[in-house]
Amino acid sequence: MYICVCNGVTERQISAAVTEGASTMRDLRKCLGVASECGRCARSARECLRAAADTNRPAQSAGWAESAARSFNGLLALEPETY
Ligand code: FES
Repeated sequence: MYICVCNGVTERQISAAVTEGASTMRDLRKCLGVASECGRCARSARECLRAAADTNRPAQSAGWAESAARSFNGLLALEPETY
């Protein structure tokens, strides 16, 4: 679905931009031109941004959990004299 008609930006493109690191409306404006003309798409674009961020969040949380588990396991492997 088109979100920004002025620039021909779709919901899918916004989602892809979020996957590649966009996290703010400023990022979307810079990389896709969203809300840079008439501005009528700003509200919908912000909703897409949040939805895409929520969709990506579980993977990021899992990454954090794995990283924490590795650190914890690394601490368990240390000899008592090393800390
Ligand atoms: S619809 Fe996005 S700037 Fe006009």
